[in-house]
Amino acid sequence: MNPLRRSGPAPLVIAHRGASAAAPENTMPAFAAAWAAGAGWVETDVQPTLDGVPVLLHDPDLDRTTDGRGPVRGRSAREVAALDAGRWFPDGAFTGTGVPPLSALLAELSPTRRLLLEIKGEHTRQQVRTVLRACRDSGQDHRVLVQSFEVAALGHVRDLDPHRPLGLLVEELDDDPVAACARVGACAYNPDHRALLDGLTRRPDLLDELHRADVAVAVWTADDPADWAALTDAGVDAIITNRPAELLGWLADR
Ligand code: G3P
Ligand code: CA
Repeated sequence: MNPLRRSGPAPLVIAHRGASAAAPENTMPAFAAAWAAGAGWVETDVQPTLDGVPVLLHDPDLDRTTDGRGPVRGRSAREVAALDAGRWFPDGAFTGTGVPPLSALLAELSPTRRLLLEIKGEHTRQQVRTVLRACRDSGQDHRVLVQSFEVAALGHVRDLDPHRPLGLLVEELDDDPVAACARVGACAYNPDHRALLDGLTRRPDLLDELHRADVAVAVWTADDPADWAALTDAGVDAIITNRPAELLGWLADR
């Protein structure tokens, strides 16, 4: 069964980097806020430290979201663990919040909490192996769908863990999205929401084609009710948003 296929009239709600409009992105408070809002899925980005520990950060550099400097891949896990990933957030309430290792988020998954795990940037086979091992060791393996823009990283996942559900992230639509997913073994096609809405004006059957191939569509990153309406009516399976509480409220009122 495809874990991202929508089963009713409403798309799945996926909290982008946690509830990242309410708390600092990719931190445990952001994930907790997403779960408190009722989001069944959270999305996050994983990258390796210098010594190979998978940690949750979006940018290649530490500068924007922590009080560190330079590439995360140039710092040890111990150095990254000492950083403050909450001080930058506007209201000052999250100062002292750390950069979580992937294992910390995995430990909080449950039957009602699933993870869309983005392998961010290039990863060697060994780095992918380490991510997959963390998933397996957590006991929450079956609650994790891996996605990436990096076709090579998806290939490593496919080789190392052939049954892992995969999502193919794209900024622009492929000429043949079904074939693009088949090439990497993806069960989800995850485009920029604007690219999808634009593409549907030219190719109105696109979602049907993907669904006939049992490929789900999870779009990123939509925070505007006008977009939520267009995407829901079009039939996307999931909406990745920085505002899961607002999207869930909007869906409930519809
Ligand atoms: O989940 C998809 C989305 O997160 C991809 O874009 O840059 O926010 O990682 P980005
Ligand atoms: Ca991401």
